[in-house]
Amino acid sequence: MNLHKFSLIVLYSLTVIATLYLAGYGFEYYGLSLQERPHSDLHLAWKPSGFIGQGAGIVGSALMLILLLYSMRKRMRFMQQGWGDIRYWLNYHIWMGITGPVLVIFHTTFKFGGIVAVSFWSMMAVALSGVLGRYIYVQIPRSLSGEELSASELQELEEAYRRQLTSEASGNTKALPILDQFIETNINESKGLMSWLTHDLTATFRYNALKQRLIREAGLSGHDAKHLVNVARRRATLERRVAFLGQARKLLHHWHVFHKPFAIIMIVIMVVHVVVAISLGYTWIF
Ligand code: HEM
Repeated sequence: MNLHKFSLIVLYSLTVIATLYLAGYGFEYYGLSLQERPHSDLHLAWKPSGFIGQGAGIVGSALMLILLLYSMRKRMRFMQQGWGDIRYWLNYHIWMGITGPVLVIFHTTFKFGGIVAVSFWSMMAVALSGVLGRYIYVQIPRSLSGEELSASELQELEEAYRRQLTSEASGNTKALPILDQFIETNINESKGLMSWLTHDLTATFRYNALKQRLIREAGLSGHDAKHLVNVARRRATLERRVAFLGQARKLLHHWHVFHKPFAIIMIVIMVVHVVVAISLGYTWIF
């Protein structure tokens, strides 16, 4: 396991621990009505301007500001070389984009109202749409550094997968036509985002059925069939992504048009909210 994966495991574990802590210890407070809360002993720490409530808001907002470094990393000339793998940056962006909103939800103490609610719902729209964006993003084949593969690199890769599948299945004349037919159907049935999604969500069942078919019709052992299915899976995934590259690029572009404005609205209102809160003295820090 490399350092990047390890750091993500640690970070997501921290998110789970923080969420369980806040949900577990805050449960009693969040369950109180708005009229009851000020009379509770918990109010001092758990209210939005209390040590825990505001602490969650500060850390959550800070994460949502820091995650914008990803945009800088993509655009600033001086950050384009020697600043690490862009895919790693995106993974940290996503971690902050999930953990920030979770912390902010606890900061709101589940009361959503006023102008700052616009920031809150923009945050939710950005974070939830991020999941779809991430899915579209991976539909575009990229190099290890996260750059889109060129047409010739794609062709080379497709050829390499094709050769690998042919050579691995060469001892069995019945296996290859089954695999080729599977890959072709995979492309023919993928007409757009919804069908990619349903295909990917049902992938485990479809590849399991393919394995059973190879065992039954081509007489392969379970081990050999599993191995061939893994190679076919890589080839089928790549071929579908190549076939629909233009569509995926367009979708990612449209998605950006949605994701970015909500991010901006969220940040602007968040900053106004913080300035107002501090100037009205709603804080335990200053
Ligand atoms: C409140 C939380 C979030 C904010 C404010 C935010 C903000 C942004 C912004 C401003 C960009 C544009 C980057 C650029 O091209 O300059 C972006 C891109 C992106 N974000 Fe987020 N994001 C958030 C959460 C998430 C989450 C939760 C995910 C995934 C689960 C995600 C996935 C992505 C992806 C895949 C891209 C596109 C990467 C690319 O095309 O290079 N984001 N985000």
